[in-house]
Amino acid sequence: MSEEYIKVISSGPLHGEVSVAGAKNAVLVSMAATLLADGESILTNVPISSDVRYMAILLQCLGAEVALDEERKLVTVDTRSVCCFTVNPDVMKKMRASVLVMGPLLARFSQAKLVFPGGCSIGARPINYHLKNFKKMGVEIHYVDEVLHAKTKKLQSCRIALEYPSVGATENILMAAVLTEGTTTIVNAALEPEVLDLIEALQCMGARIVICPAAIIQITGVTSLKPMNHSVIPDRLEAGSLLLAGAVTGGDVFVTNARAYDMDIFLMKLQEMGHKIEVGLNGNGVRIKATQLPEAVSFKTGPYPGFPTDLQSPMMVAQCLATGTCEIHETVFENRFLHVRELQKMGAQIKCISGSGLACSVGDCDKVQVTGVEALYGTNVIATDIRASCALVLAGMAAKGKTVMTGVDHWRRGYDQLDKKLIQLGLRISIQPVDYLIPSARNAEHFI
Ligand code: EPU
Repeated sequence: MSEEYIKVISSGPLHGEVSVAGAKNAVLVSMAATLLADGESILTNVPISSDVRYMAILLQCLGAEVALDEERKLVTVDTRSVCCFTVNPDVMKKMRASVLVMGPLLARFSQAKLVFPGGCSIGARPINYHLKNFKKMGVEIHYVDEVLHAKTKKLQSCRIALEYPSVGATENILMAAVLTEGTTTIVNAALEPEVLDLIEALQCMGARIVICPAAIIQITGVTSLKPMNHSVIPDRLEAGSLLLAGAVTGGDVFVTNARAYDMDIFLMKLQEMGHKIEVGLNGNGVRIKATQLPEAVSFKTGPYPGFPTDLQSPMMVAQCLATGTCEIHETVFENRFLHVRELQKMGAQIKCISGSGLACSVGDCDKVQVTGVEALYGTNVIATDIRASCALVLAGMAAKGKTVMTGVDHWRRGYDQLDKKLIQLGLRISIQPVDYLIPSARNAEHFI
């Protein structure tokens, strides 16, 4: 694919109704879970993003037949011909979620070979919680030339306590445990809506899983599972981003299929800023009627039901234009402030603060102080991760003039045509190939 850039031109308040795609972080793990059964699984409400395509390639490399129907937002995965347990290293390096096939491969084939996963540059992102607990389940792990070879004679059920409620580790252990004899207990499990969606998909396949108070998941192994037919939940992160598009432009946006009860703290923070939030019956559908005088609010990211780290950078944009000063504390990933420099280029007033309260550099801080400014100004910016790409588009729509963003591959990894939805709401945004317009220009400086 040729290099691309996104151009955003300030277009005034955004108005209208939109619906969100299925959740990226739910569909990827459900696609991995199809490996647990022998047969054809069907997933609907699938966001057709590049991460979904990578996962399709990964499964194909294992021998599965995968078909993506872009029109109907549907994926079928036929696992009858899966014969291989070595994960393609090129795909593995592109996408963090590749590691999620480890649990299913161990459950089905008692072994898996993979390299360390890649993905966004938001932190070191080790997989020690996954590996440590697979070992507890009777898996032996060896490394040869950076390739990790995991093997077990038979998976063993046990009681697992996660020292941190890791989403990926919870999902991987869950998928290994559903075909493991006896009862496996995960204490301090992650309970993000995407994990609950996986549990629902696994239950439809015949898995026996119960969630108990205080974040405990109990899995009683069964001898086999049937293929799944599962509709992926709507993406709460895309929903949050569209509501923020209403907020930062002072508009009125109704996200018809947003699930309000998946985003309580985020919606509460929007209300604290002064925005009017209307929620539909049973939490289905959320509308924002933005205030023209938003007030700054502090927030701290955390595991669900805390403020989602994936909405930290988009929400920061709203704070850049609010009245007053707030603090934003990132507790989930240690390097998730790279968008700060780009927002500063647009005129945002953001100060990085170290643990001791002193000013420090972006790479060393887990907290920033944002003081609202009257306006942001369009310029050339670079997205370094999926959610930063969304934040910079939000900044671009609220800024005066034209914003040009490179790093569009991050946007394409996480979203299924979000740009089209923004156009529907009245935004002037386009994605263009660099080579098409200015063949010699590789530097974003040339585009404006
Ligand atoms: N961690 C470890 N060791 C582990 C696993 C995690 O130290 O073995 C640390 C991580 O480094 C991080 C924290 O624990 O600092 C949380 O990681 P977690 O495992 O919960 O996250 P993940 O499974 O790697 C998923 C999403 C992320 C989302 C996080 C948190 C997928 C494919 N990814 O990542 O989504 O931010 O949960 O909710 O589901 C995104 O969509 O842009 C994205 C990064």
